[in-house]
Amino acid sequence: MKREVEVFPDLAAAAQRAAEEFVRAAREAAGGGKTFDVALSGGSTPRGLYERLARPPLVYEAPWRSVRFFWGDERLVPSDHADSNFRLAKELLLDKLPVPPAGVYRVHTETPDAAAAAEAYDRGIRHAFSLPPGAVPRFDLMVQGLGGDGHTASLFPGTSAVAETRKLAVAVYVEKLDSWRVTLTLPVLNNAAEVLFLAAGAGKASTVAHVLGDAPPPRPAQLVRPANGRVLWLLDRAAASLLPR
Ligand code: 6PG
Repeated sequence: MKREVEVFPDLAAAAQRAAEEFVRAAREAAGGGKTFDVALSGGSTPRGLYERLARPPLVYEAPWRSVRFFWGDERLVPSDHADSNFRLAKELLLDKLPVPPAGVYRVHTETPDAAAAAEAYDRGIRHAFSLPPGAVPRFDLMVQGLGGDGHTASLFPGTSAVAETRKLAVAVYVEKLDSWRVTLTLPVLNNAAEVLFLAAGAGKASTVAHVLGDAPPPRPAQLVRPANGRVLWLLDRAAASLLPR
């Protein structure tokens, strides 16, 4: 695993760098004649990334018809709900791109049964990647956020989702949020070609220092160590403020 950390004056600059990295990776994949398979994160941090990808100049530079959009996790809410990770990406990005509907692989959350939603998402990914039984997809890029407790995607500390080694996607009940989520699992994150963490704000500083310092106990974000992949952390100064100089 190759890990790089870049610190920027503010989130806007970090988001710009994330958007440029997205386009670089997409052009590299498409240039090699393959689809660019990307899993988007949820939360609020990626807003600036989506906005920059959806406007000039970057909107003209990415090979959008080669991009397949997946999500690292999703809340079990309707796809038009304010909390939907899909809705955020749809409104800020997808609705502004020439992406065919077939290139969007969202988690179908129109069911109160989180396990069924996870199983359907798992099946959909296996089909999209034409995976033989037991195989794991290799995403070109996974955009990840970081929670204050060190979660990423919906791999929350202390949940069985963190320990999952076979399934690609699982349902997870997040007690402190009293909500069900569907999340990709560590085998998927750790098979990615590139994982891009985007984190900002002083509220994340202690968690960023813990995770990047590999301090005990290991938080879920510390378990993202793709053996044949690159991990790129893009931080603003506030989130990086407790890192050793
Ligand atoms: C989600 C995310 C989650 C998020 C972090 C950071 O669905 O909430 O996938 O892992 O990335 O909680 O959230 P913020 O970007 O809002 O700080």
